Amino acid sequence: MAGSAAQRGFWASRFGFILAAAGSAVGLGNIWKFPYVTGNNGGGLFVVIYLICVVAVGLPIMNAEILVGRTTARSPVPAFGELAGRRSPWVGTGWLGALAGFVILSFYSVVAGWAVYYAFVSITQGFGSGTAAELAQVKTLFAGLIKKPSLNLVLHGVFMTATVAVVIGGVQAGIERWSRILMPTLFTMLIGLAIYAMTLPGAGAALDFMFGLHTEQLQPAGFLEAMGQAFFSLSLGMGAMLTYGSYLPKDTSVFKSALYVAGLDTFVALISSVVIFPVTFSYGIEPSAGPGLVFQSLPMAFSQMPGGRVLASLFFSLLVFAALTSSISLLEVVASTFIDLYGWTRKQAVVLMGLVTFVVGVPSALSFSVPAFGERFKGLVGKSFFDSMDDLSANWMLPLGGLLIAVYVGFFMESSRRQKEFEEGTPPWAYPPWLALLRFISPIAVALVMLKSTGVLKLLGIAS
Ligand code: TRP
Repeated sequence: MAGSAAQRGFWASRFGFILAAAGSAVGLGNIWKFPYVTGNNGGGLFVVIYLICVVAVGLPIMNAEILVGRTTARSPVPAFGELAGRRSPWVGTGWLGALAGFVILSFYSVVAGWAVYYAFVSITQGFGSGTAAELAQVKTLFAGLIKKPSLNLVLHGVFMTATVAVVIGGVQAGIERWSRILMPTLFTMLIGLAIYAMTLPGAGAALDFMFGLHTEQLQPAGFLEAMGQAFFSLSLGMGAMLTYGSYLPKDTSVFKSALYVAGLDTFVALISSVVIFPVTFSYGIEPSAGPGLVFQSLPMAFSQMPGGRVLASLFFSLLVFAALTSSISLLEVVASTFIDLYGWTRKQAVVLMGLVTFVVGVPSALSFSVPAFGERFKGLVGKSFFDSMDDLSANWMLPLGGLLIAVYVGFFMESSRRQKEFEEGTPPWAYPPWLALLRFISPIAVALVMLKSTGVLKLLGIAS
């Protein structure tokens, strides 16, 4: 049974929608991944390319997703069913999204579990006071954590349970209320940490690294990497924004909402870097430390700085909050698909899908400790189970989903309906540029990401 709009929850306000959607977008992708990818790509110029990707590719697709959601008031599968016809192959776009939700959440929860662990450690015991012996201990903390199978399963389970608990509460009572509390806390914490970071000796070098245009460091692959990061960070390509948009009242501007969400997401990515790079530059830590950038290097830095224990507790609590407001959007997409399609109760759908996602995530949680999912899996497939899930979703499912959404809304959606819906709440001048970007810029850029993944560009000698 397809739920009608009247049976569904609605956001209490546009502010509630923006907080929740920004909560989905702002997560580990901003705080953990963006600084690290920026570090690997030489800083400044990569940041500029990323910003262009957000505006030229991310924003048009986000508009398309929210528009389809608000228009149909359905989750992805029935949304495409309503627009294109139940038997249309476009419905597959919705299923791809729900599947991507499973895949992303299964490993996302593992990383979030590490954040839970670091929050717990920083609150209960801290990272010492910077003595050589303590620093040596802090340095091995991450390697020790990922090598413990049962601890990783417990942390993964704790985080999934928290996600399930929030999503069971439903759109308004659960997601919107939590986002209202968590998001402003997050922004306040980040700004405070950024102000602190500006007082560090490495602040100047960090700002130059991030915002100085070091053209000599431009790599051909930089544009494509920036593109993929924009997709992941903005929660695009799997119907998360579509689903949140389906709870958006008709009189709310799709365009303005998307602008706020993308703006907040970009702000958090940038300010996270403003927090992290001064720390790495001040304490002699490599900006390209990867997964260790947050989980290894920062605790070492916190250990050496005055007030470090309080700051570490704030930072890792904040990381858990950010991950939770993202994970609830992933589970919401999966659960609402089953609520809308099969008439399951919210509780049934959320608990069952949460359980399935936990099970699918078990090999990811064990990828660093059990050879069958780590080294031996790598021998067979080329990547650990954890890395395979990351690769499958980020390099294949999200770009494909985004491409399909852009092409459907740009070329196949009934044009009068598309225009009427877009202009509801939005000034008409915004329609032509949006449509042009959606038809011709977004799909081409996304196709480039996918061609890079298949190695076609490498064959043609276009990218390294
Ligand atoms: N955007 C989130 C982050 O940056 C992750 C995320 C949540 C996501 N929901 C998504 C990514 C949907 C892609 C699609 O951490």
